[in-house]
Amino acid sequence: MVKICASRADFDWASNHGMSIRRLPLELVNRIAAGEVVERPASAVKELVENALDAGAAIVGIRLSAGGLDLIEVTDDGCGMSAADMSLALERHATSKLPDDHIEAVASFGFRGEALPSIASVARLTLESRMPGADGWRLTIDHGQAADEGPASLPPGTRVRVEGLFDKVPARRKFLRSPRAEYAACLDAVRRLAMARSDVAFSLEHDGRRVLSVQPSDTPTRVAALLDRELERHGLGIDCSRDGLRLSGVVSLPTFNRGMADHQYLFVNHRPVKDRLLVGSLRAAYRDLLARDRHPVAALFVEVPGDELDINVHPAKTEVRFRDPAAVRGLIVGGLRAALDEAGHRSAAREQFAQPAAWQVEPVRHPGEGDARGFGSSALQFHEAPAFAGATIVAEARALFDQAPAAKAESATEAVPIYPLGVARGQVAATYIVAEAEDGLVIVDQHAAHERLVLERMRRASGGAVARQALLMPEVVELDEPDCDRLEAAAAELAELGLEMERFGPAAMLVRATPAPLGKTDAQALLADLAAELAELGTALSLRDRLDHVAATIACHGSVRAGRVLSVAEMNALLREMEITPHSGQCNHGRPTWVKLAHADIEKLFGRR
Ligand SMILES: Nc1ncnc2c1ncn2[C@@H]1O[C@H](COP(=O)(O)OP(=O)(O)OP(=O)(O)O)[C@@H](O)[C@H]1O
Ligand SMILES: [Mg+2]
Repeated sequence: MVKICASRADFDWASNHGMSIRRLPLELVNRIAAGEVVERPASAVKELVENALDAGAAIVGIRLSAGGLDLIEVTDDGCGMSAADMSLALERHATSKLPDDHIEAVASFGFRGEALPSIASVARLTLESRMPGADGWRLTIDHGQAADEGPASLPPGTRVRVEGLFDKVPARRKFLRSPRAEYAACLDAVRRLAMARSDVAFSLEHDGRRVLSVQPSDTPTRVAALLDRELERHGLGIDCSRDGLRLSGVVSLPTFNRGMADHQYLFVNHRPVKDRLLVGSLRAAYRDLLARDRHPVAALFVEVPGDELDINVHPAKTEVRFRDPAAVRGLIVGGLRAALDEAGHRSAAREQFAQPAAWQVEPVRHPGEGDARGFGSSALQFHEAPAFAGATIVAEARALFDQAPAAKAESATEAVPIYPLGVARGQVAATYIVAEAEDGLVIVDQHAAHERLVLERMRRASGGAVARQALLMPEVVELDEPDCDRLEAAAAELAELGLEMERFGPAAMLVRATPAPLGKTDAQALLADLAAELAELGTALSLRDRLDHVAATIACHGSVRAGRVLSVAEMNALLREMEITPHSGQCNHGRPTWVKLAHADIEKLFGRR
């Protein structure tokens, strides 16, 4: 995979700039986004870890008790502070990170000189620090009051302990959630920073238990270690640039998806940020590859020139403002789309499925003895695969085997030509094609596969023009005026995809021809979907990208439904087309279109191995 992260030297803020803390001039203080910095334990954890990273740490250790409510301790091996600087660090608006008043150009996480004094005002905070070659010093502040100080013995670096956060601030305590929930938020904060800086080692301990420990590595490896090891196999490395912007990171293959959009991380100039732009861009990039309620895993790093970005818009610095958000969105959608296209028909679920461990043979049950039905005397079952898309296949496979066998048997005596997806042997439940390949048994979901093929056909044709099928009687479709405006504005694009129409009064369109690959089509439904699609895409995407999306919407209207009986020739034609079609491993919703059971796996099922 691509190596994404720069080396530690690029971030070594402390040694590049020399740490000398100063009080910020008032004029600058007033420009800094004001607001509550510490809302919950996770915000304190974030601030302390950011300080450790800004100090050039190579190793950051974090210990928490009771979700950080009882104790937060962050230890680093960074540059340390002198005793004088330690006192200054606890004053408001004293920072070493803005040597020249340029908030816009700041490369460190911190720049406001707010975090330590804010935390120290709502907890008991002990700061211990030692610079290389000097002695260590310790300073305790109890709810804003100096409580204790003296020599400390520690290795070079800094250790900050925060005890009893918000104990004396009932108003704040009220808004805290359970220690479990607070712990989860702390973990998320550490994860984000550990992804941002894969060149630094991190460990996290909660209530005496080690919950995270990562060594320096490249970014894809780090992301996989923090989110899901399987990403190493089912992830795609991203690395592209456009107009001075750079995008790198990892995203999951469409078949490796989740029910929640919780594993989606965005970093801008190596700073973890939360931005709706990510959600929208991911949705657009995976649009025809995933169902609306399934979500990819993503950790994306955007690098933009400093003057394209305002980081000083949020007190906790978790939001940024782009000067040109459309350009960033275009970069993400375009970059991911290109990578996904290249990934072709790889499908994560297929591989999991083919593992014999996913199959289980139940003891023989006789009629009347429970509900086992299906193949002969033994019922095949699948373990619930732990992975994302797995559940869908399990459900579909169950449906398959629950049906009484209704296959049209084909003679299996002829030699099997070498086709990756094999030769059709029959159809089950008028929904699944069973094929024999040289190395195993292939089952294809005909509806999912066909939908995909229609889309890819449209997409290929959209380089030239898709054939149109003229309607005998032009059809009037009534829609909202804004919808009609959108369709009218896109009429030329849509004509290339075989859809010919014109405006017909303020709130109607007249459809003259529909795309030929679709066959008979419900023009009303098609136009309504297209209008919605165009509204969502807006004008941020290039014509090319928009055509792609629109083609997907059209394809959904034209696929062979499950339940259609196919001839053997039709089945074989489908298999052959799948073999040469990009993305044919998954349907437009991210489910696999086919699965294979290797001969060796079949032998294991029957105890022959
Ligand atoms: N772990 C650390 N190692 C070395 N110096 C530190 C450490 N933590 C804090 N400091 C010093 O203390 C100063 C104040 O830290 P604090 O987090 O309050 O503000 P900041 O990081 O400058 O800005 P921000 O409020 O945006 O985080 C820092 O500028 C830095 O010089
Ligand atoms: Mg800070």
